[in-house]
Amino acid sequence: MGELDGKVAVITGAGSGMGRASAELFVARGARVVCADISGAEEQTAKELGDAAVAVRCDVADEASVVALFEAALAAFGRVDAALNVAGVAGGGALAEATLEEYHRITSIDMLGVLLGTKHAIKTMVATGGGSIVNWSSIGGLGASPMGTGIYSAAKAGVHAITKAAAVEYGTQGIRANAICPGFIETAMTGGPGTAEKFPQLVHGSALKRAGRAEEIAEVAAFLASDRSSYLTGAIIPVDGGTTAALP
Ligand SMILES: NC(=O)c1ccc[n+]([C@@H]2O[C@H](COP(=O)([O-])OP(=O)(O)OC[C@H]3O[C@@H](n4cnc5c(N)ncnc54)[C@H](O)[C@@H]3O)[C@@H](O)[C@H]2O)c1
Repeated sequence: MGELDGKVAVITGAGSGMGRASAELFVARGARVVCADISGAEEQTAKELGDAAVAVRCDVADEASVVALFEAALAAFGRVDAALNVAGVAGGGALAEATLEEYHRITSIDMLGVLLGTKHAIKTMVATGGGSIVNWSSIGGLGASPMGTGIYSAAKAGVHAITKAAAVEYGTQGIRANAICPGFIETAMTGGPGTAEKFPQLVHGSALKRAGRAEEIAEVAAFLASDRSSYLTGAIIPVDGGTTAALP
């Protein structure tokens, strides 16, 4: 018996990194998954997962595309029990150099994308008695970095507000919503495997003195999607090897 037996999950950003790792883990634990991405790589993820997965091309920043994603999930599997809003982009730069173009690029995917994924997950889930929404934030949503992440941090802090609103507004309808704040995880976004070894300063501030693996974040998402976390909602959860626990 898997902890996610019988559950159906919609996962954005499933073509790469933590979204892909989550799709793999969810299927291994018994779920059926809808792998969504804008890149086309969602096809490969779903193909490798066999009958338990379908792929849907989706731009999380486009509402019609997100509506079509949840319609495709219902057509494929008849219900949605978990929605993982993983898709995101990094970027930004020093605040005094911020451009509107960069602001719109980052916030439209990292914040509006999560808002749309949360909105349509709620609409879909309440019809079948509820479900679990897991939104991807970042330790950048909890604090600022001298590397210049102001726009990204603003978008991720917005994810916290959206997550808490979903939890508070829809808790009585069976919806739980939580946000994960990963620390430094070696994915395509951060330069891939080996980046932390080449640049140890990136993980120096963590208690564990190492980068995280995408599967370690997926484990937390699996717990949040499962019935084992039935009293956990509205939480903003750092999964960062102790980075935000440390004094400088
Ligand atoms: N890697 C880290 O260290 C780290 C740390 C904290 C938070 N995060 C967050 O974790 C999430 C996943 O990041 P990752 O490291 O797995 O990155 P990744 O680059 O490996 O994967 C991100 C995926 O999102 C997809 N995507 C981008 N724009 C999209 C759009 N408009 N619609 C649909 N899909 C889109 C990409 O195609 C890609 O497949 C992001 O929200 C990111 O901000 C990452």
